Amino acid sequence: MAVTVAFVSQKGGPGKSTLARALSREAATNGLRVKLADLDLQQGTSLEWNRTRLQAGIEPSISVESFPTAAKALAVAGEYDLLVIDGPARASAGTLEIARASDLVVQPSGAALDDLRPAVKLFHELTRAGIPSERLVMALNHVATEAEEADARAYVEQAGYSVLASSLVERPLYRQAQNAGLAVTEAKHARLRERADALVQSIVNRIEG
Ligand SMILES: Nc1ncnc2c1ncn2[C@@H]1O[C@H](COP(=O)(O)OP(=O)(O)O)[C@@H](O)[C@H]1O
Ligand SMILES: [Mg+2]
Repeated sequence: MAVTVAFVSQKGGPGKSTLARALSREAATNGLRVKLADLDLQQGTSLEWNRTRLQAGIEPSISVESFPTAAKALAVAGEYDLLVIDGPARASAGTLEIARASDLVVQPSGAALDDLRPAVKLFHELTRAGIPSERLVMALNHVATEAEEADARAYVEQAGYSVLASSLVERPLYRQAQNAGLAVTEAKHARLRERADALVQSIVNRIEG
């Protein structure tokens, strides 16, 4: 049975698809059989991204498929080592179903309180519904400075949740990479690739730990 990692969020645009693609790309590079399940039916951005990737002939190829529900994605998970769920644009009734189906739930968030408050609230809702908090982790994205990151980390930990050891800085090159069908771990700039690699590694460490 596949290990299932889901990326969900309360707000739109914090980086679910960005992180889901990066994890999938690194898993595929390491020879794992990985399925990236795009549950954002309305936008299907990871499907579109993969179309660009295929047209550009970027290796490794990644198996991306659209599913209406987590259950439908889980139904094919047996054939894979890793199922990566790229969650819908915003939290919905489906978010709890996704969390129940997952070994690890990663919620990307910006570092502002405007982003962190609703993100923590979603984790509270999930734990109240019976999801163990050990299965939930925040991923800080779009951060600008170390001080900002430290404050955000403290806020989330104070609320009772853990934060991935690595974060992503806000950089146009990360957008450009994804515009071209690349993952952020394939960005043009070595320092940015390393930062993205470290973030993916921090997710892998959580899965293994
Ligand atoms: N660290 C970053 N720096 C710059 N742009 C980013 C970063 N992370 C994500 N983005 C961009 O922000 C937008 C939203 O990210 P996305 O992963 O699609 O969010 P979500 O799937 O949560 O809606 C995309 O255009 C993406 O390329
Ligand atoms: Mg998305």
